[in-house]
Amino acid sequence: MAVLGSDSRRWSGLLLIFVFLCSFITPVVTVKHENFKKCDQSGFCKRNRAYADAALSTSSWQAPYSLDPASIKFDNGMLTGSVVKTIVNTAETVRLPLTIAFYESGTARVTLDEERRQKGDIVLRHDSKAKKQRYNEAEKWAIVGGTTLSQGAATSKGAEKGTTNISYGPAGTFEAVIRHSPFGIDFKRNGETQIQFNNRGLLNVEHWRPKVEKPVEEKKEGEEAVVGESAKDTEEDEGTWWDESFGGSTDSKPKGPEAVALDISFPNYQHVFGVAEHAGPLSLKETRGGDGKYSEPYRLYNSDVFEYEMDSPMTLYGAIPFMQAQKKDSTVGVFWLNAAETWIDITKSSSSTNPLSLGIGSKITTNTHWISESGLLDVFIFLGPKPQDVVGAYTELTGYTQLPQQFAIAYHQCRWNYVTDEDVRDVDRKFDKNRIPYDVIWLDIEYTEGKKYFTWDPDTFANPLGMEKQLDEHERKLVAIIDPHIKNEGNYPVVDELKSKDLAVHNKDGNIYEGWCWPGSSHWVDCFNPAAHTWWKSLFRYDKFKGTAKNTWIWNDMNEPSVFNGPETTMPKDNLHHGGWEHRDVHNINGMTFQNATYHAILARDKEEDKANVRPFVLTRSFYSGSQRLGAMWTGDNQAAWPHLEASIPMLLSMGISGFPFAGADVGGFFGNPSKELLTRWYQAGAFYPFFRGHAHIDTRRREPYLAGEPYTQIITQALRLRYSLLPAWYTAFHEAHTNGAPILRPNYYVHPGDEKGFAIDDQFYVGSTGLLAKPVTTEGADGVDIYLADKEKYFDYFDYWMYEGPTTVSLAASLDTIPLLMQGGHIIPRRDRPRRSSGLMRYDPFTLVVVIGNSGDAEGTLYLDDGESFDYEEGAFIHRRFEYKSATSTLMSEDLAAASASPSRKTKDYLKAMEKVRVEKVIVVGAPESWKSKKEVEVSEELAGKSSGTKSAELEWHGKEEGKAAWAVVRDPGIQIGAGWKISFA
Ligand SMILES: *[C@@H]1O[C@H](CO)[C@@H](O)[C@H](O)[C@H]1NC(C)=O
Ligand SMILES: *[C@@H]1O[C@H](CO)[C@@H](O)[C@H](O)[C@H]1NC(C)=O
Repeated sequence: MAVLGSDSRRWSGLLLIFVFLCSFITPVVTVKHENFKKCDQSGFCKRNRAYADAALSTSSWQAPYSLDPASIKFDNGMLTGSVVKTIVNTAETVRLPLTIAFYESGTARVTLDEERRQKGDIVLRHDSKAKKQRYNEAEKWAIVGGTTLSQGAATSKGAEKGTTNISYGPAGTFEAVIRHSPFGIDFKRNGETQIQFNNRGLLNVEHWRPKVEKPVEEKKEGEEAVVGESAKDTEEDEGTWWDESFGGSTDSKPKGPEAVALDISFPNYQHVFGVAEHAGPLSLKETRGGDGKYSEPYRLYNSDVFEYEMDSPMTLYGAIPFMQAQKKDSTVGVFWLNAAETWIDITKSSSSTNPLSLGIGSKITTNTHWISESGLLDVFIFLGPKPQDVVGAYTELTGYTQLPQQFAIAYHQCRWNYVTDEDVRDVDRKFDKNRIPYDVIWLDIEYTEGKKYFTWDPDTFANPLGMEKQLDEHERKLVAIIDPHIKNEGNYPVVDELKSKDLAVHNKDGNIYEGWCWPGSSHWVDCFNPAAHTWWKSLFRYDKFKGTAKNTWIWNDMNEPSVFNGPETTMPKDNLHHGGWEHRDVHNINGMTFQNATYHAILARDKEEDKANVRPFVLTRSFYSGSQRLGAMWTGDNQAAWPHLEASIPMLLSMGISGFPFAGADVGGFFGNPSKELLTRWYQAGAFYPFFRGHAHIDTRRREPYLAGEPYTQIITQALRLRYSLLPAWYTAFHEAHTNGAPILRPNYYVHPGDEKGFAIDDQFYVGSTGLLAKPVTTEGADGVDIYLADKEKYFDYFDYWMYEGPTTVSLAASLDTIPLLMQGGHIIPRRDRPRRSSGLMRYDPFTLVVVIGNSGDAEGTLYLDDGESFDYEEGAFIHRRFEYKSATSTLMSEDLAAASASPSRKTKDYLKAMEKVRVEKVIVVGAPESWKSKKEVEVSEELAGKSSGTKSAELEWHGKEEGKAAWAVVRDPGIQIGAGWKISFA
């Protein structure tokens, strides 16, 4: 490499100016719309929108579905019956078996299937190998609990003719009023209707039917021969029933039309949230056009959307068909369990109770219309009333988020690509040299030999074990990418086995499917096949995936799946998976099964080979309801542009309320080069992403934090240190999510469900239950932000204890080196303030407790702590404390939240023993009472193993009120253990 001469220095100066201009004018590139379907290019979506338009345009619309009263049975918390569909313009009917299950949790579930008719009754394409049945296995992958039938659910006696009423839920306060004809259900809480099914009559189950070959109409000059078009008014548009083309590929539809659709209304609910993943506001927009509204429905069809656009209902990489509706003091929700392509239309209507009110006091009702291409109609209903009741019930069904290893919630350094093992070692050394903490370094696809997973490029990564060993010296980890496409090339044992064991996805003819991805021609492992899991496990063994060590973890990308030459950059829908299911039926679950296979492979690697009991770490791009059980997700290929930084906050909030809080966005932006200001602001925001990773595209300049130069590097390092010092609070929030599904980033509506003014706020959030309220700066050149405080409570600036009081909106200065962060009164926040190179090195560091005294004078908080890596916590090896400050007695105490066991396991004893030396080194009381002013000491008593160790005193340091700021006090080294019971008296 040539050293730069004076000439080239001048050039580099010019280059800098050029770069500056470029970063200034870098346009936000936008998605190729033509590569992705709009509703009217997706036959079943177009048909169902047309159906809705027809139904809603006439007041005499009669929905052609009724529940046969003679078929109704109710037993043991479950109603069964038969819904009869009358086929328009014929006398024919189709029977749709109905079940309505009432679970102990208070969740109800409505399922409509289609009666399997006799062989020969339906005519499928003779050559089709697809299973001739509606897909009914989404539940098998997504649901893991919460389905115990309620013994308390009961039909009300003497129900009027025409309805069947079931009371259920807590103390029987929920009710399902099932209307027989037309079939529909109103869900009530305390007598008030919260959710309505089919009240607009849009229920539509496209029944199976034989394919009738119609004579091709004589094509007249200048006319297009479109099948079905001629009988437009009376008949359905049949043009896409039996095959459908888009972007040059044709989808054969061996089962014909089989969509399911339903209108779900939320009367008097103004806001709906959820149906992740979309790049748009948290509060979902209306979708049928008009000012500030979308004209396309929200779409869920997991896709690799290159250069995705902002503020859009377009589909992205993952799908969580769970929606919550919010009105004052009430949250309800629905979960649409279907893995096929799904579209959701949202409209709002307002009704004024008083015509003279000029809109004041008018009620908004949110109407939704759900449309899926195939499968069952299967919907879960949650009646709240609190946000956590809904999220908790949803996650009881789909599983709680994995409790990650501690390193996984620290900082990750990624780039496409670190090009050699020496490059990795060099980056590692430079972080240390610059005293910047990080835990994990990542390898994108280039580490492999020719994009063959489970291999290393022998020229560039000759010594992966040596590299991993260096990382391990500071307890750092490596994450390597493994994707689901397997290179189709000779002399590659992985593809040979995939083929010989027949574990790949098949095409519609039943042969191995071949498509293009990073390696060129590839095959895709079919993780719906249990045998594929067994095989996949074998590949990760240390002796099989040579060059990996115990600190190697995995990244699963491209698992939508992304297929470069496939329709909409994915697999053809008529591909076949294990069991004969079409890809169309399982598409949105595909990514989850792949991440799951990897999760179990890593588990087996360490358990079976090593007897180690460690928690796997697997990052996924594609996901579905339930993926939260398996690891983290990120929002895919974003751009180094301010709107993408801004959008990351509502996107992550949406993931959090959808039961999948372990989420992040690429810090810095994947495509393009961020300005230093943008990079810095992005790190400050990223310090509040549950999953915190810097990543960059192969065509971008290097941007490791130490390259930013001053003052940027210093400011970025501060943001990283803030994250590391708050790791105990983050880990406690993850533990909470792991036990009850609570979001980690909490939007205003979740924390203050009675405050209507805050429902749409999605640019600020609380962190877990800590009372930390953050509002990252996401605009260029900003020197301040406004933060909305919803409650009548004191809030304190995290850094200088400046005091604010809600309810109001406050302005905070936020120069480039400042992260707007407040502490809500009434909380106790655990921290570890000693700067270390990695989180692993903090294991035995002492704690700081920040007691934030608000209007009540009291404060409380929790701390969850374990070894941060193994499953030993499941056997009791953890510390779980509750801290409480009571103003009445002026005491701060620590009590045990772990149910004390008479005979603790050996692991528990070992863990607690190891933690015995871990102290509380500092207690900071913010908003300390003036009466402590002249106090010099506090009294400390500790209880160890049930025995009081007597009392001792510790010094109290007083800091009086300054203009605008709160008084605060510090107790230094009170001589207490974090894991013990203790009391500090300030009286
Ligand atoms: C069933 O619910 C409907 C609607 O609330 C009500 O009109 C009807 O009286 C109820 N029937 C019984 C028997 O509770
Ligand atoms: C995950 O894998 C396990 C073990 O192979 C299997 O039992 C389970 O059904 C799988 N779940 C998902 C979501 O793929």
